[in-house]
Amino acid sequence: MNRVHLLAAVAALAALGACASPESATPMAAARAAGPKAVATLSPTTGNTAAGTVVFEQHGDHVTVTAKLTGLKPNQEHGFHAHEKGDCSSGDGMSAGGHFNPTAKPHGPQDAEHHAGDLPALKADANGNAQASFHLTGVSVGSGAPTDLVGRGLIVHAAPDDYKTQPTGNSGARIACGVVTKA
Ligand code: CU
Ligand code: ZN
Repeated sequence: MNRVHLLAAVAALAALGACASPESATPMAAARAAGPKAVATLSPTTGNTAAGTVVFEQHGDHVTVTAKLTGLKPNQEHGFHAHEKGDCSSGDGMSAGGHFNPTAKPHGPQDAEHHAGDLPALKADANGNAQASFHLTGVSVGSGAPTDLVGRGLIVHAAPDDYKTQPTGNSGARIACGVVTKA
């Protein structure tokens, strides 16, 4: 492959999204590679305004996540995690339990040992909105395996995640909660 063709191939991969993996180098293959999908609709906990939709989709060995939130604190970073229980009934989000941790790891950032449910923090803009898309490894969608995100609780926190404090990241109150549901 000469340099021009290589650049074209790179551009094609970029057009597919950064999650394009070797087996999805063409649009048709990418469509085949897209696996089960799940959605969490996040609702505000008592006294809060944060809400939104988060979509999870299996792509080969990783999961793509697309999040859209409103009602966050403007210009604030918000801790964001999958928690072990798909239960938002308590009003304060505490019924969702601790961070989803099927592999018994410490809390941490994506580039170090971390709970399977530890996600990159959401960054709210000046209007309190946040959009994010990223990839996860070590989790699955609809697999029925211990790493399956379906049936888990998804939580947005009031404060940033320090990715250090065990086992929570010290990200404060739970301001939105939703259950990850197979689409
Ligand atoms: Cu959390
Ligand atoms: Zn964690």
